[in-house]
Amino acid sequence: MDKTRVAIVGLGTVGTGVARLLLDHGDRTARHAGRTLWLEAIVDRDTRRQRDVDLPAGLLTDDLSRITGNPAIQVVAELIGGLEPARTIVLELLRSGKDVVTANKALLAEHGAELFDTARALGRSIAFEASVAGGIPIIANISQCLSANQVLSLRGILNGTSNFIVTKMEEGMDYAAAVSTAQRMGFAEADPSMDVDGTDAVQKLAILAHLAFGARVHWRDIPRQGINTLHLADMRFACELGYRIKLLAVAELTQGVLELHVAPTLVRMGTPLAEVREAYNAISVIGDAVGPVFFHGLGAGQMPTASAVVADMIDTAVGRTGITFRTLELWSRREARVGIRDHADLKGRFYLRFTVEDHPGVMAQIAGVLGRHAVSIASIIQHEPDPASDGSLVPLVIMTHMTTEGATHQAMQELDRLPCVMPPSVRMRVLDRSES
Ligand code: NDP
Ligand code: HSE
Repeated sequence: MDKTRVAIVGLGTVGTGVARLLLDHGDRTARHAGRTLWLEAIVDRDTRRQRDVDLPAGLLTDDLSRITGNPAIQVVAELIGGLEPARTIVLELLRSGKDVVTANKALLAEHGAELFDTARALGRSIAFEASVAGGIPIIANISQCLSANQVLSLRGILNGTSNFIVTKMEEGMDYAAAVSTAQRMGFAEADPSMDVDGTDAVQKLAILAHLAFGARVHWRDIPRQGINTLHLADMRFACELGYRIKLLAVAELTQGVLELHVAPTLVRMGTPLAEVREAYNAISVIGDAVGPVFFHGLGAGQMPTASAVVADMIDTAVGRTGITFRTLELWSRREARVGIRDHADLKGRFYLRFTVEDHPGVMAQIAGVLGRHAVSIASIIQHEPDPASDGSLVPLVIMTHMTTEGATHQAMQELDRLPCVMPPSVRMRVLDRSES
């Protein structure tokens, strides 16, 4: 049987999973590739650490030239993560004639144009299925299987760590314990603040928006909020109102203009996105021909991510990636472009929580400010004061009717200046039907 020689740079959580699939299940990859994917070298800066895989002697090295200097190696998986030296290494790999597979969304969101232009100029390819939603084949679906469609809407839970933390907090675990459990289980980024502040989700959204809509938007320009500011009180109120809080990434096309944002959102219980638990990811896509399609699966973790990386290595070895890469012209100047909607104009319902003084006239003042900004109240929750507290401050929760980001933002700024309101107040978007 023919051999395609492959290599890995970065033997961490994902790299170890990829090595295990290539070494322990070579028969499987050979059956699908029609050739053996022969693991020729693994580069990691630490060659001594014990890993959860049996490596043949001499395979692991800290010397990148064992790959770049070996013309027999055709396909290399970059799995070190981060921007540098990952960018330089990927450029070196391309220049030494390798096709690259990567799981590194941070790298693509920041340097996609440069890397893709370089690969195109050199006649090489870059495959990146694992960079968004781990084991879910969303890149292939958007760029190939749904290519007869204009995607109209994309709503996703794209960060497994955040979803895991939110799920555990709903079950009673405190925030810090949930973060360290996610780290221990291998879901979190090397710097977990990228997971919890929404950076990782927004980088993935930028990649999807690029593929689905030709949106050449820098991830830093997409409005972003993470789960690191979430309070247990909001999770309890959301539950009381019939919602779960999810870190939702949204890209939606209306009248030719794209809405983009990542934010903790109250999602109606019983709808598919609300029921996504633990480190699972999900993406609800609406195409103009296919209608609604829902993808669900493990979006982080060693083997789900390795599954996507090895599939890309097989596709690259058999030549499928090269064809798609050439025809799609991703991140190129020839792509169609789309305008981005001003964040203030985004429509929606909102959840507002205030900490207010409990005395006559407070409700009237708050309703007055909301009314002046044309924000209409749909429902209000104010419970009896906690008997354990002195009762002077109480939480007040308001659900609005349809309004805009701009109107609620301005109303909240004014409300937080009222003497009867203890800032900062909380404002979150509400999603009543995740599939429409
Ligand atoms: P890890 O930190 O577990 O693994 C990275 C490995 O690369 C480590 O062994 C690290 O060594 C090594 N490394 C770092 N810098 C260099 C270098 N300059 N030269 C050689 N080796 C180096 O990360 P993950 O496996 O979790 O993630 C890898 C990539 O996959 C990232 O881009 C991540 O975003 C992406 N990804 C991860 C998922 C997951 O669930 N973990 C899911 C989807 C994508 P050291 O330990 O010494 O730093
Ligand atoms: N840290 C990422 C997550 C890994 O939790 O989703 C998958 O990209």
